[in-house]
Amino acid sequence: MNGIRTVVAGVGSYLPDRIVTNAEMARMVDTSDEWIVERTGINQRHIAADGEYTSDLAIAAGKRAIEDAGIDAGDIDMVIVATATPDETFPATAVKVQAGLGITQGAAFDIQAVCSGFVYGFSVADNLIRGGMSKNLLLIGAETFSRILDWEDRTTCVLFGDGAGAVVLRGEQGAGDRGIIASKLRSDGTKHDLLYVDGGPSTTQTTGKLRMRGRDVFKHAVNNLADIVQEVFEGTDLSPSDIDWIVPHQANRRILDATARKLGIAPDKVVVTVQDHGNTSAASVPLALDRAVRDGRIKRGDLVLLEAMGGGFTWGASLVRW
Ligand code: ACO
Repeated sequence: MNGIRTVVAGVGSYLPDRIVTNAEMARMVDTSDEWIVERTGINQRHIAADGEYTSDLAIAAGKRAIEDAGIDAGDIDMVIVATATPDETFPATAVKVQAGLGITQGAAFDIQAVCSGFVYGFSVADNLIRGGMSKNLLLIGAETFSRILDWEDRTTCVLFGDGAGAVVLRGEQGAGDRGIIASKLRSDGTKHDLLYVDGGPSTTQTTGKLRMRGRDVFKHAVNNLADIVQEVFEGTDLSPSDIDWIVPHQANRRILDATARKLGIAPDKVVVTVQDHGNTSAASVPLALDRAVRDGRIKRGDLVLLEAMGGGFTWGASLVRW
């Protein structure tokens, strides 16, 4: 081994200005604040303005993460954007973000693993960095899910929102026990029909709308997430009881509570932001991470667990010493 470890050098996030409350949702579809809060824990979501694209959200979050890392955009040698709502079918949104940040060296590409995209990206980035291909990597989760929602389907449109979160990951020698310790990724394509978008360039030549069998997704989410968290500890000398903070994908308050309960982890160790922005897919883990770092909960030396599950199904977890 070359002794390089991947440390989180900076975090940042961005939410569009426009907030849509549950009361406003109740004027669009047959729902209520009480139903949404009780079933999901969501109070409001942010919606991108007309003409505000996934790349714009990503650039805003990326700038903040670069600033937090105390480096210049010119130091970034790789940009990865996790998104299921790219600006265009091609090229990758990451390449637009690279240009938007004024980065002219290195490479940029997207990862498509829906709500697990950031956790997938975390693992891919760690391997690129430890393999010596990147020294300062900007990983962003950014989504404009409002653009793929069926705004007449109350069972889905109340759940999602737009946003972006980012981290700068840096390869360091002599980082001690700091940095990414382990990651696990999984997918199961046989569950495609439980959560998907019913369009695409090769099928319908349209963008399509999100379709979900919510109750089935819920059941699988809790089981898969609890399993992957156990698996990520295999081969380490740590266990779930060592976790200081869980930063989960923010899909639904009840999924967060049920997963923590299944793992025997105290609810006050779970970072919860779903109430403020709903499910922002690949953006949700870095949005929650940014909040908990900035408000002082996550501190140097803490053991932090990231986990997510989404369409595909895809799911994964990463363990990182802050
Ligand atoms: N407002 C009012 N009533 C509603 C709404 C709404 N927005 N949506 C559904 N209902 C109704 C249903 O029509 C149903 O009525 P019925 O009993 O007369 O048929 C009733 O509420 C119960 O519906 P369920 O789907 O059984 O409700 P449930 O308690 O399962 O909650 C929810 C639905 C919130 C979607 C839940 O299943 C869930 O969170 N699933 C996970 C989905 C998820 O998080 N997906 C994100 C992507 S994957 C991931 O990120 C993990």
